[in-house]
Amino acid sequence: MKRELERIIQGQETSDGAGVRIKRSLGQNQQARVDPFLMLDEFGSESANDYIAGFPSHPHRGFETVTYMLEGHMLHEDHMGNKGHLKNGDVQWMTAGKGIIHSEMPQQEAGLMRGFQLWINLPAAEKMKPAHYRDIPNSEIPQVNLPSGGSIKVIANEVTIGGQLIKGPIQGLTTEAIYWDISLPEGQRFEHSIPDYHHTVIYVYEGSVNIGDKARKLEKGNAGILSSGESLSIQSLQSDTCFLVISGKPLKETVAQYGPFVMNTGDEIEQAIRDYRAGTLTD
Ligand code: CO
Repeated sequence: MKRELERIIQGQETSDGAGVRIKRSLGQNQQARVDPFLMLDEFGSESANDYIAGFPSHPHRGFETVTYMLEGHMLHEDHMGNKGHLKNGDVQWMTAGKGIIHSEMPQQEAGLMRGFQLWINLPAAEKMKPAHYRDIPNSEIPQVNLPSGGSIKVIANEVTIGGQLIKGPIQGLTTEAIYWDISLPEGQRFEHSIPDYHHTVIYVYEGSVNIGDKARKLEKGNAGILSSGESLSIQSLQSDTCFLVISGKPLKETVAQYGPFVMNTGDEIEQAIRDYRAGTLTD
């Protein structure tokens, strides 16, 4: 069965950090989560006022954050001493685990900054594992041409294109997260298998697409939640259409969230707040 477009979450303009303008689709409220994905933000502006304040030092516990920079320059620094320069096409994969304290600050005073931040939940058994941080430069992320024109960039998991298996740099997560960035010329179609038990989200950031046999339309700035099925069929409706395919195995666990802490119970959230106040979040 082909996956159809079941529900659309319209991106909402909001601000986060010290006043960074973002468009939030997943995670704008509790009903807008798609297990195991908690949140998806797009940031994109040519106006420095929209991003210059950045995200000063703040904590996380219990999940992973993936930042994908299309264009711009941001510096990540964390309590472990990591410094990561995130530039055009780069990805930063951060596993907060039991605790990380980091900042993400723009390293430019003008020009376009554009990208995405995705929050992926961790299963209960992994929420308190040690924090981990990985910089993935654009050069280490495979980008291949599609037979129908356009291209696919494989950030997490893998694809098979023309009989060739292409593996992205991120593999082996419990959530089996798939993260692909696809660009397609007008009229062209991307088709691929996908595990039928995955929850799958399409986020269009340029142009528009039709999804599945019912050809329901999804436009720029919106997240589309797909029905279950084992194959994906997405057709571009405009030139230079670009979209993300985000898919993963649901954890089916209770979610308790308080800002940057995502645990299973209220008690665990209170513990996280106590640990942060006592300065022991990352111990
Ligand atoms: Co953060």
